[in-house]
Parts: sequence; C-alpha cells; structure tokens
Amino acid sequence: MLDKKYKEQLEEWDKTYLWHPFTQMQDYARETPMIIEEGSGVYLKDANGKEYIDGISSMWCILHGHRKKEIDDAIKRQLDKIAHTTLLGPSNIPAIELAKLLVGIAPEGLNKVFYSDNGSTANEVALKMALQYWQHKGFKDKTQFVALQYGYHGDTIGTMSVGGIELFHGAFRPLYFKTHLAPSPYCYRCPLGKQPQNCSLACLDKLEDILKENPGRIAAMIMEPLVQGAGGMIIHPSGYLSGVHALCKKYNVLLVLDEVLTGFGRTGSMFACLHEDVVPDIMNLSKGINGGYMPLAATLATEEIYNAFLGEFSSLKTFFHGHTYTGNPLGCAAALASLELLEKERILENLEPKIKYLQAKLKSFESLEHVGNIRQCGLIAAIELVKNKTTKESYPWEERMGIKVCIESRKQGLLIRPLGHIIVIMPPLIIKEHELDRLLTIVYESIKIITSSTLSK
Ligand SMILES: Cc1ncc(COP(=O)(O)O)c(C=O)c1O
Repeated sequence: MLDKKYKEQLEEWDKTYLWHPFTQMQDYARETPMIIEEGSGVYLKDANGKEYIDGISSMWCILHGHRKKEIDDAIKRQLDKIAHTTLLGPSNIPAIELAKLLVGIAPEGLNKVFYSDNGSTANEVALKMALQYWQHKGFKDKTQFVALQYGYHGDTIGTMSVGGIELFHGAFRPLYFKTHLAPSPYCYRCPLGKQPQNCSLACLDKLEDILKENPGRIAAMIMEPLVQGAGGMIIHPSGYLSGVHALCKKYNVLLVLDEVLTGFGRTGSMFACLHEDVVPDIMNLSKGINGGYMPLAATLATEEIYNAFLGEFSSLKTFFHGHTYTGNPLGCAAALASLELLEKERILENLEPKIKYLQAKLKSFESLEHVGNIRQCGLIAAIELVKNKTTKESYPWEERMGIKVCIESRKQGLLIRPLGHIIVIMPPLIIKEHELDRLLTIVYESIKIITSSTLSK
C-alpha cells in the first residue's frame, strides 16, 4: 500500500500527464483514478490496498494469474542473458525454441512463424502477407479483403480497414483500403431477421454472394473464429467457421484467422479453429501467447505461403516487414514458460468443469429483468443488457449502463470492463471455483442494483 501523500501525487500526475486508451478523458478527470500497484493469482491490488478480482484478465490476456513464479523466473533467467536483440539478421534462442513449439501445437500445416509485438501487428502482417502472396503467384488483382460486421482486428490503419465496428472505425474511413463486410452471425440480433433454429446459416449465403460478385479480386477473408470479441463477444453458431472455410476454398480466397483473443485456451481448446477442425492459411496470435506478460505476437503461415516469398534477392519477393521488438527474447522466454505451464498444470483439461460451472451459474441471470441475452464460449461470457426484454430494445448508449454496472462491481471488488451495454466476463484460466462464484455474485448484484435504480428514476 502506498503512502497517502505519494498516492495523491500519482493521482494528480495520472490526470496531468497520461492519456488513457479508449477513454473519454473529460470523464476520467472527474473520477478518482484506480492505480494498480500489484497483483497475485486472479487478484489485483490498488494503491489503497483494496483487492479486486481481475475479471477481464487485464484486457483478455492473463492466463496463469499474476506473478506466476515459473514465468517470473523464466524472464529473470533470460534477463541474466540478454533482454533484447534484433531478429533482423541474427536469431535468438527463445525465439527459435518458441517458433518450434508454436508450430508443434498449431493446426497441422501452419509451419512458419513470423513474430511481431501485439495483436494489431500480427493481423497487419497477415494482411500484407496475404496480398503479397497473390502478387507473387501472379494474381495481381487480388487486393481486396472480406471481413465481418462487428469484427475487430486492432487499431492500426490496416486492421481498422478490415474492422466492422462503426463506433471505433467510422471516423477513419477515408484512410481505408477496399474491404467487403459480410453479416456477422450475431444470432440474438440476426442481421437477416432469422431464427437460429431454422436459419440454415443463411448468413453464409451473403458471404458467398460477396465472393461470387468479386471473382479474382479478393485476397483473403479475415475473421475472429467463434468469438467476435470487441464487437460484443458475439458467439458464432456451430458450423459457421467451417462454412466460411469451405467458401474460401471454393472461391480461391485465403482464410486468415485472428486468434489474438481466442488462442491459448480461452474457448476451451488451444485454438478456437480446432473446435471445427479448420486449418486456416494464416493464423494470428498475441495476448495469451505468453500468459499476458509482455508484448509479443506471432503470425503463422503455411509452407505454401512461405514458399511464394522465396526467390533470388533481385526478384524482390522478400517480405519487407519487421518491428524493432520482433521476437523479443524476454517475451519469447515468458511464452515458453507459459506453454510449459499449460501442459504441466493440465490447464485445458482442468478448464472443463469450470466452463460447466460458469454455464450453470449464468442460468440464474436469465431471471433478471434487463438481461436480454447470455452468451458463453469456454471461459468467455457476455451478458447483454436490454431496456426491454421482449422487444430486445437496447438501452440508449448515453445511459452508459455497462459502465455503471462495472463501476458498481468495482466497489464490490471486481474489475471488469463492458462493451457498451454488454458485460464481459473473462477471468484468468486458473481461476478457482469459489473465485468464479464470487465474481458472478458481484456481477449479478451489480446488474440488479444498477438496472433497478435506473428504473426507479
Ligand atoms: C481479436 C482481436 N484482434 C486484435 C486485437 C488487437 O490487439 P492489440 O490490442 O494487442 O493490438 C484484439 C484486442 O483486443 C482482439 O481482441
């Protein structure tokens, strides 16, 4: 716990010098900042000494909890050797070992690892790779992309070009390259007005229309498999991903899967695409890659794509892309330790009962008057709040219902962050049943308090 004077000083400096991401700083300036000082397991502790369950895995990336000894030690060991060296030219030991390991656990056929340092860059790399692949293969007109409505792949210009969230992406539209948005299989609010029981995945027909209408122009389809995260934790119906895969094959379009959020166990299997036995042409990883310890990302590609970039230097087939911290040894050492833990502690096998427990507990939320839809995939859950359950009418965004619920949860010792009026639950994979129970009780109580107090106004 910090000295009171120093804590107040930090609060003032925070407001004076820091610009927080995705934050309206005018609102922030009116609040007392929450300053995290330390963490352990699923808990975070702020500068007042108050503890919170980390209900969103510190932005969807922590797997083994905070201050996991094995990862801490691996980083310290690597620090005694070297903190950073470039991959532009030389190689480094953890980067080599990790590449071998990633290829070993990835869906069969993804044999080459290209490192970068965050989810956006992993996707940006994939888009450039896909476009240049077709150039090298002689398909010069394949320069466009298909993506999903409500998709989110990062905040760089390239990844925003394939983004589908108007709130985040609308303002920058003049900068984007050509992308076709296919409807998202958001079954609770089906864009085609269908019912999931008898829709026969009609949204796939819309995707097929796009592919059919643009012969020879589409380089790749990029999507988040099974769970569209930032777009509202939209969980896809079974068969959608394999349907997309089949269409990509039919129309000679690469399939790029953004597993930045879903990778490394979140959905209950190592990668979401394994649920439907889909092997993409390119797969992008970050967040959980090293248990959420430090910036690291990887774009995995097939031999076929890699080989298209081989040639004499003068052929200019080189993939001209790279970042300063590409393959950073500390990040890779942390990833090696995290992957070892996933296996040694049988994290995925132990997840199954927790997933079932979460599912059972979420049932009780159905009776809440303003809970419209509850979605779950693995240890990811989303609760969509609505003004009117029968008509599915949303709360006006100005009411900030999601934010209010999260502020109430924070008072009760839980850190979560909403997506509009959707409450997201995504704890570290090692959360224990009693901790999950506490987390859900706080969310339940907070929804009840906030939705009923709004009603009485
Ligand atoms: C699916 C997905 N892709 C890409 C990103 C962007 O990752 P980063 O914030 O590390 O750039 C995110 C971040 O939330 C994500 O959820």
